[in-house]
Amino acid sequence: MVTGASSGIGEAYARLLASLGYDLIIVARRKDRLESIAKDLQDKYGVLVTVLEGDLCSADDVSAIEEKVRATADLSVLVNNAGFGTLGQFVDVDISKTLDMISVHVTAPTRLIKAALPGMNARREGNIINVASAAPFLPVSGNVNYNGTKSYLIAFSECLQLEVKDAGVRVQALCPGFTRTGFHSVDEFKNVDFSTIPAFMWMPADRVVAQSWRALGKKKVIFIPGFINRIICTFFGGLFRYLASKRPVRPPSQNT
Ligand SMILES: NC(=O)c1ccc[n+]([C@@H]2O[C@H](COP(=O)([O-])OP(=O)(O)OC[C@H]3O[C@@H](n4cnc5c(N)ncnc54)[C@H](OP(=O)(O)O)[C@@H]3O)[C@@H](O)[C@H]2O)c1
Repeated sequence: MVTGASSGIGEAYARLLASLGYDLIIVARRKDRLESIAKDLQDKYGVLVTVLEGDLCSADDVSAIEEKVRATADLSVLVNNAGFGTLGQFVDVDISKTLDMISVHVTAPTRLIKAALPGMNARREGNIINVASAAPFLPVSGNVNYNGTKSYLIAFSECLQLEVKDAGVRVQALCPGFTRTGFHSVDEFKNVDFSTIPAFMWMPADRVVAQSWRALGKKKVIFIPGFINRIICTFFGGLFRYLASKRPVRPPSQNT
């Protein structure tokens, strides 16, 4: 099962898994896109692709997807990939967007993993990939809820792996940097000029996914694809935290 398979990293994961012979359940809101991807994968690879239209902000839709997970007796891969970004400081972002992000990045993956694990543990085989982000390694303003929700996936994956490793279940928090997908071309970012990000910092989605799948075999739980991204997260992450600790904080007013 791949959530958010209608474009970008999720579509690339669906394509990789289909090329390896996996039957698929692909989930997203845009049913027309899922159906055309399903047809393409069935024609190219002869695999069975089931389309599940669902909004991961909707508790009822997540219940239906959970049911599908429980009913799939041989579910061996779960890719919790669906996600989105918001623009602006935490205080300014509409609360409904903030809560939707928690639903899509935190609540839905947690529910789907909980539904998938009993079967995976019993079969002593399973792979869970939670698509987080490199962003939490770089504390910057404007990313409060994004970094918060993606940090949940990183910490969750790291601890979950300890609990399920003896059952033969592999877990990965995939932490991509800038990846060429539909993520940056939504209305939310229409006034943001991403062309200022140097070309060397971008990766294509299929390369992110190929590296993620290879790293899963090597049992890396927190995986940052791309050498440049790993350098940026390690070096600049430490630097950003050091500089933030040096920034003076204005003392609270006596009138408050
Ligand atoms: N692109 C990057 O630079 C980058 C970097 C780090 C991490 N990521 C993460 O990678 C993941 C995939 O994003 P992407 O870059 O591939 O962007 P994308 O092309 O915009 O794909 C996002 C996917 O999530 C689905 N989705 C969003 N909200 C949903 C909802 N409420 N219910 C169901 N599905 C929903 C979308 O499908 P529908 O619109 O059809 O529902 C789409 O298939 C996200 O979790 C993102 O945070 C991306």
